[in-house]
Amino acid sequence: MPTKKTKPAAKKSQRKNSGAAQGNTQLEKYFIDSLKDIYWAEKALTKALPKMRKAATTEELQTAIGEHLTQTEEHVSRLEQVFELFGKKAQAKKCEAMEGLIKEGDSIVEETEDGSMTRDAAIIMAAQKVEHYEIATYGGLVSLAKTMGKNEAADILAMTLEEEKQTDEGLTSIAENDINWEAEMEGQMEADH
Ligand SMILES: [Fe+2]
Ligand SMILES: [Fe+2]
Repeated sequence: MPTKKTKPAAKKSQRKNSGAAQGNTQLEKYFIDSLKDIYWAEKALTKALPKMRKAATTEELQTAIGEHLTQTEEHVSRLEQVFELFGKKAQAKKCEAMEGLIKEGDSIVEETEDGSMTRDAAIIMAAQKVEHYEIATYGGLVSLAKTMGKNEAADILAMTLEEEKQTDEGLTSIAENDINWEAEMEGQMEADH
């Protein structure tokens, strides 16, 4: 059983004065904090993805990144809808994890040769790390929203979760057919010279 903590009297009265029974549980606060975090992350991705797309070698990867950019813009507005459902203003809070993943993507571009297949193989891996972070986050948020009885919010978040999963799978199949193989061949060609 969870231990009950006594809340300071001042806070209690503040709560009464606010007149809102909702939005004050610890879990909901955590949920909203996580929303702010992923909201920052999605917004940062709308700026990072165009750079990734530009850096990609193959048209196939460029198209995949471009499609996900469009989805990502939608993810931002879906999050705004979820904030609204909780009666909150959409607010972004810097997500250190996503900042790190985006930086990693930038350095991968710097470290790989322009126009190479190795560049694409590396971009795919960097992009999949981003997707996995998003999948973990949205998976948790959907589950928490359901727990709190916020089914509409859960449905909205689940749509995004599904798109992140599809993107991840799409990237895997691009890598396997046949960018990774071509990147490997490219290495052999260099070794032969
Ligand atoms: Fe997203
Ligand atoms: Fe994504």
